[in-house]
Amino acid sequence: CGIIARIGHGNAAETLLSGLENLEYRGYDSAGIAVQNGSGVKVHKCSGEVSDLKSALNTQPHGNMGIGHTRWSTHGPPTDENAHPHTDTAGDVAVVHNGVIDNYDELRADLQGKGHEFDSDTDTEVIPHLIDEYREATGDTERAVRRAVETLEGSYAIAAIVDGEEAVYAARKGSPLVLGLDEEEWFLASDVPAFLDHTDEVIYLEDGDLVVLEPDSYRITDLAGNPVERSVDTVDWDPEDAGKGEYDHYMLKEINNQPTSLANTIEGRVEDGDVAFEDLSPGTFDGIESVQFVACGTSYHAAMYGSQLVREAGLRTEVLRASEYEATTGPVDETTLTVAVTQSGETADTLDAVRTAADRGARTLAVTNVVGSTAAREADDAVYIRAGPEVGVAATKTYSSQAVTLALLSQRLAGDVPDATPAADRAAMLEALTDLPQHVEAVLESTRAETLAQDTLDSESFFFIGSGLGHSVALEGALKFKEITYEHAEGFAAGELKHGPLALVTEETPLFAVYTSNGDEKTKTNAIEAQSRGAPIVAVGPDDNPLVDVADAHLSVPETHPVWAGLLANVQLQLLSYHAAKQLGRPIDKPRNLAKSVTVE
Ligand code: G6P
Repeated sequence: CGIIARIGHGNAAETLLSGLENLEYRGYDSAGIAVQNGSGVKVHKCSGEVSDLKSALNTQPHGNMGIGHTRWSTHGPPTDENAHPHTDTAGDVAVVHNGVIDNYDELRADLQGKGHEFDSDTDTEVIPHLIDEYREATGDTERAVRRAVETLEGSYAIAAIVDGEEAVYAARKGSPLVLGLDEEEWFLASDVPAFLDHTDEVIYLEDGDLVVLEPDSYRITDLAGNPVERSVDTVDWDPEDAGKGEYDHYMLKEINNQPTSLANTIEGRVEDGDVAFEDLSPGTFDGIESVQFVACGTSYHAAMYGSQLVREAGLRTEVLRASEYEATTGPVDETTLTVAVTQSGETADTLDAVRTAADRGARTLAVTNVVGSTAAREADDAVYIRAGPEVGVAATKTYSSQAVTLALLSQRLAGDVPDATPAADRAAMLEALTDLPQHVEAVLESTRAETLAQDTLDSESFFFIGSGLGHSVALEGALKFKEITYEHAEGFAAGELKHGPLALVTEETPLFAVYTSNGDEKTKTNAIEAQSRGAPIVAVGPDDNPLVDVADAHLSVPETHPVWAGLLANVQLQLLSYHAAKQLGRPIDKPRNLAKSVTVE
């Protein structure tokens, strides 16, 4: 879910609504705002997208302060009643919330016993009732908010407004909340893009912080009421990055942005044929003997990429699904480096895994796109992938930047850890990396993905195979395809195809074979096996490869070092998914049931 709040002079509604549009990647099954003016707190909310909310508002509600929310349902289906903001019985206190309240059942029963009436199935609704209850008891809203959040178990970022008060109250524990400071107005939001049009001056709030915003001042305290100092940061994201620009979809914009985003990722990190990681001080990896990666979704596929390169450097390594961490981790102690790969830095499953690893003594490193994110703050060290804001729910440019950052990290580890060995052709590999942005540009200019999407669209299933680095790319290709087209797509290690999935192969199952100029014999043999059962084969990789001669079609990428070829193949597959989804008329930037940043387990 995404939350926003604004207070200042002038009207709040427009800012709240445009902020919500920029936060829709966090969830879009319902939206709502509450504003406050001389005639009380007014709530407007509905199931559906922010655009539905906008059309439902005949005129913009009047008021200089307000809160807003875009929802990804956890407790209760996406209905008008379950949409936020929620209010207390009298409608005097309105609250938006991101997170999960674990003890809401007992709180709700208790509050109902005291005469509070509930309208929704959500866990959130207990919060305005609690604030109301404590306001009655204390006569002081700030104290009431403090007591309310002390009563809550679970995770929350909340913002509240109260009838007759020129203030927004907010608090966070376990869910992100950023304060934006402009000359004439203050903002609170789950993420910076919500208010990037207005200001780039931010304060990343921390767990336990309670904030009171008034039109001309703000204050941050801890839960005991003591003032706390938080530094003001300047975000170096361009406001244009948060908009769609000339493109039909954020996803296409972000795919096309990759020459720039990758150049930013690489900048200053390759020098004189070696890696230079200014974010990591010397000695960071002293005593490390093994590396485990934890991640979810697309980040997991980038982690697979990184893990293979760490393995090639001679280090023990594993890559784990963050949600399965407890069940799958090998032994962890102070010789383990646990790397959390997370674009947002807020994925609950990943945070949980890395906290468990830290409890067991591991050294932790966050590889993330978001400065000030929870992962970046909690890990011992953080490395930023510098991809710029990504709004499309399907991750594209952040995957490429993650994979490149992890490849560089593998070489840094190879240099630092005594038993590891840097790649024999490291200088050539790094030199090829500096050409990667141009190579991506060449793919974007020459791609035949749109035609191919058209030619293959009328199929039953879409299979993606690859070996080694190509395997992780095949998995990512299939994930992207299913996420945004809703067609059945699966990725396999090339050699696994014959151990089961081959039973599904017919002329109705196009097979995309990713290769990287390394260990591709397996991919070719298994592709041919599928082809002899009727499957059309699409080769995805450089021209100079035996697979190209047998394939029915080819998505070509420039010749490069084998370590980077998979990333170029992935750009072709991103475009394939995009064009297939477009031809099917899917809501590309907001696929059903998905959210970009999942802050619940
Ligand atoms: C969600 C998104 C995926 C994303 C995953 C991990 O499930 O829908 O696209 O890959 O979270 O996100 P993270 O921010 O941790 O990289």
